[in-house]
Amino acid sequence: MTNEEFKNKIIKVGTFFSGIGNPEKAFNRLEEEGYIVDYKIEFFSEIDKNAIKSYCAIHNIDEKFNLGNITSIKGSDLPYCDIWIGGFPCQDIFVAGKMKGFDYESSTRSSLGWEMIRLLREVIIKPKYVIFENVAIIAGKKFKDTLDLFKEDLKNLGYTLYDDLLSVVLV
Ligand SMILES: C[S@@+](CC[C@H](N)C(=O)[O-])C[C@H]1O[C@@H](n2cnc3c(N)ncnc32)[C@H](O)[C@@H]1O
Repeated sequence: MTNEEFKNKIIKVGTFFSGIGNPEKAFNRLEEEGYIVDYKIEFFSEIDKNAIKSYCAIHNIDEKFNLGNITSIKGSDLPYCDIWIGGFPCQDIFVAGKMKGFDYESSTRSSLGWEMIRLLREVIIKPKYVIFENVAIIAGKKFKDTLDLFKEDLKNLGYTLYDDLLSVVLV
């Protein structure tokens, strides 16, 4: 995503596993700091009722924009967005959990990340950009085979992939 590309454009954003909407807050900051003109939350997807209430309060948005459980969403439900973001559940990847992983159709909570790939296949106009976020160990040896398949699907959908390990500093 370049500054030029979005200089005069309202960026349409959709998130899955939205929680309280940290990525949305980042867009807010990009706007405040003049990197983008504006952004609009087209939809979010969350099932936890406390997170939903917090999300709506923090982002000043009506609950009707919550599409709910990702497994019930169809591609045709989704309005066009420039970018999708999904920090899918990490319980089965994280060291403190049982590390059951996120194999396709394994029914672990972390395997819900594949639902975003299903929706990318189903949606009429794909988002130009998609960001997946998870814990660093997802890129380790234990999950390499699953992550490779995940990336392969994204490549087959036409995306160029970039990944990075970020250290977050809260200020
Ligand atoms: C790792 S957290 C993501 C946190 C989020 N990025 C934020 O900024 O707060 C994963 C979220 O996925 C939600 N979730 C779990 N299963 C879901 C499902 N089937 N559909 C939609 N959201 C789900 C959880 O309630 C949780 O808030």
